[in-house]
Amino acid sequence: MEKSYRLLLDNNRKWVEGQLQQDPQYFKKLASGQKPEYLWIGCSDSRVPANQITGTEPGDMFVHRNIANMVVHSDMNMLSVLSYAVEVLKVKHIIVCGHYECGGVIAAMGHKQFGLIDNWLRHIKDVYKLYASELESIADEKLRARRFVELNVTEQVYDLCKTTIVQNAWKNGQPLAVHGWVYGVDDGIIKDLEVSFTSEKDLHSVYQV
Ligand code: CO
Repeated sequence: MEKSYRLLLDNNRKWVEGQLQQDPQYFKKLASGQKPEYLWIGCSDSRVPANQITGTEPGDMFVHRNIANMVVHSDMNMLSVLSYAVEVLKVKHIIVCGHYECGGVIAAMGHKQFGLIDNWLRHIKDVYKLYASELESIADEKLRARRFVELNVTEQVYDLCKTTIVQNAWKNGQPLAVHGWVYGVDDGIIKDLEVSFTSEKDLHSVYQV
């Protein structure tokens, strides 16, 4: 057990050496500040590392991850990350990236208790209820789960657009697009769900503030 933990620190020293060989100023440049263009809202799943699957480097992406890449509008953690990314860092793109085989989404489709996490899964169940007729028309459970992953991402994109943080950025003329993607853990491919928003005009009017 101790060995697998030590391995990470050894890997870190090797990584530092490698980076410095390529560019002796690498860490000095990073230490001078960040100006990422992207905010990534992804799942905590260990198979979906934001930087690796998008070919991005330290400094490129501001990242928030939670179980099933949820945008829960009373979640202070998510709101603080969103506020800082949009209002201070002025990211140009927010990407909600879900993934197929998402344990959170699959658990939310079922009827088992898991403990405390059931309270988090409830938010995903709320999305299921919104799309229940479409989802229940899919007989194959695997295919239904895949579609649920896509619909859940789409709904989280809407939930971002409903926030005053995103709507105020648009009101101020700040260039900002919100996108929904799904990553395939079985093939590595990211699918763009083409549900991008660049203004609140496509939202139901009750959510326009
Ligand atoms: Co997941």
